[in-house]
Amino acid sequence: MEHITAELQQLGISPIPTFSDVQLHPDLNPVDVYRAVIIEQLHTITGAEPQIINNAVQWTQDLKHGDLMLPVPALRLKGKKPDELAKEIAEKFDSPLIEKPSADKTFVRFFFKPEPYAKLVLPSILKQKHDYGFNTYLGLEDQSNPSSRKQRIIVEYSSPNIAKEFHTGHLRSTIIGGFLVKLFSRAGWEAYSLNYLGDWGKQYGVLTQGFEKYGSEEELEKDPVKHLNEVYVKINQDNSKEQEPLKPLIKKKEDLEKAKNPAKIPKPAKGEKAEPLPEWTEEKEKELQQVEADIEKVKEDLVAIPSIDEKARQFFARMYKGDPSALKDWQRFRDLSIKAYIDMYARLNIHFDEYGGESTVKEEKMEKAAEVLQRKNISEDSKGAVIVDLSKHGAPKLGKTLVKKRDGTSLYLTRDIAANFERYEKYNFDKMIYVIASQQDVHVAQFFKILELMGSPYSDIVAKCEHITFGMVKDPKGQTMSTRKGTVVSLADSLDASKEFMHDVMRKNQDKYDQVANPEATADILAISAIMVQDYSGKRINGYNFDMEKMTSFEGDTGPYLQYSHARVCSMERKTAIPASELVTADMSLITAKEGIELVRLLATWPDVFLNTYKTREPVTVLTYLFKMTHQLSSCYDAKDTSNKNAKTMSVMYADSPEKKAALMALYASARQVLSNGMTLLGLTPVERM
Ligand code: ARG
Repeated sequence: MEHITAELQQLGISPIPTFSDVQLHPDLNPVDVYRAVIIEQLHTITGAEPQIINNAVQWTQDLKHGDLMLPVPALRLKGKKPDELAKEIAEKFDSPLIEKPSADKTFVRFFFKPEPYAKLVLPSILKQKHDYGFNTYLGLEDQSNPSSRKQRIIVEYSSPNIAKEFHTGHLRSTIIGGFLVKLFSRAGWEAYSLNYLGDWGKQYGVLTQGFEKYGSEEELEKDPVKHLNEVYVKINQDNSKEQEPLKPLIKKKEDLEKAKNPAKIPKPAKGEKAEPLPEWTEEKEKELQQVEADIEKVKEDLVAIPSIDEKARQFFARMYKGDPSALKDWQRFRDLSIKAYIDMYARLNIHFDEYGGESTVKEEKMEKAAEVLQRKNISEDSKGAVIVDLSKHGAPKLGKTLVKKRDGTSLYLTRDIAANFERYEKYNFDKMIYVIASQQDVHVAQFFKILELMGSPYSDIVAKCEHITFGMVKDPKGQTMSTRKGTVVSLADSLDASKEFMHDVMRKNQDKYDQVANPEATADILAISAIMVQDYSGKRINGYNFDMEKMTSFEGDTGPYLQYSHARVCSMERKTAIPASELVTADMSLITAKEGIELVRLLATWPDVFLNTYKTREPVTVLTYLFKMTHQLSSCYDAKDTSNKNAKTMSVMYADSPEKKAALMALYASARQVLSNGMTLLGLTPVERM
């Protein structure tokens, strides 16, 4: 703050104007110095209230349209025509920090004067270092009171299913959730990571049998996630063979039911004629009854054998009752899987504060919820099971949903309902985010809606909850990936594959490769950067194709490119070896080339980019900025002098004076700092050599 004050004092701007109803942080955000000046002057010129002015002043899409702009109608002033008022403002506005503004129809565009800007911005970055850009007031209960309580947020993400594959959907949830935790922490919230494992249900009865038949203790210890998945796939194939006699019968039953209840026949597409409805005859009714009887009989036979499926049901019933011998293997599988997950998550810079899961949801909480549902007439009985028909409760699109099975066991949905309340009791959060794939949009909408219908306290808690959804990851050709096709088996495998790929890419440049101290570790970091950046490259809701070749390239907007930009400045810093204290006090007025000035302007907007990201919660907001900034950085390296076309005016190595060298290095070190701050916010580990 002191350096700003001193600098501004020389320019006659001291103290920086403050306003009671506008929160500005000139000490954190250099653009806020300018906001303060603009608000003060516009208030004098137009009489508009500071708060209204602050809301009206906007970023531009591109700095060529100004550092800030004002759409005059947003001042909501009566009387004068906006274009006339724009002219008047442009004429009367006068500040040593800002060029004479220009009126552009109903807009006023503000361009900041380069020299004072560089003098404000660069030292501010070099002093704030890894804190630059992050506004920790945002998470406070009262943003105007720095000593008020930090709000608490729980982010539930990743949530793989033990024994089933850790697919790219889980990987995406992991990456996005990890980002959100970092985003909220850097905005001053107290943020917790919660992993809600899929670790409960009949499938664990299936898995235990699979392990007896196909399991290997050695493989289990080595890679439990992969091994359990292999075992699970095998036993399911056996199970499905056993179920074969049932399949044609079930199909027949479904067809008959459709014919009986034509509402279930999908409506014809526009322009197509509806098929004539088949007649429902007494004969057909008999046929249906016969099929139902046959199914029961085959099932009985299967029980008599007894089948894998039936044994699994019985086994799970014992787990459900808490039988220690039934829980022993399950507990071991769970513990070993978590141990393996912890290592994989660490590679992604992710750490979970809690490994919960469906198994930990308390029976009594589900009972309680069921009781509320019944008492408030939200749920109803249906052939011995309990359902909620959301169409009767103002949500026709959400349809009917089962909340309790005929055998009384709970369901995925019921567990989510109870877990929501349980977590609130435990954490007393101000906000909770669920990061769950868009395939489950309906599920989430249903359980949110049910909680809302249940009334206080459930409805108050769900009002604090938010679902962050995301699109699907496909293979390079745009096809769905699956274990059966052998595309992805375990997360560790796919991370290892990317790492090997990256390692090969690095080996192609033998000279550089020889200089890297720990190529293995670097390849791993680069591979993970590649995967993450690919994931962040579009809006969350869009899916993308997992394309190893594209994401590991050093050209184009990739993770390796960001790493390369970072490492390049690190190498310059090593070579020039100017102490940090000298960089902060360097004479920034020596940065005169337009490429350098553009870079300063971009670096100054990082705190605003962070604010915007906090609003959009889109990692792509950060990423787009980082690519724009690093492209500008790289254009500085090649900048040519207008008087001497051969000299690289912004090259540190050829700088014509030690002062110039220090000023350029201050600029590049600032850019590296901002790049590093952006990368760590995204969960990447910036490398110093590669
Ligand atoms: N385990 C689930 C799956 O893999 C995801 C869990 C999402 N979270 C939740 N609260 N339902 O499909």
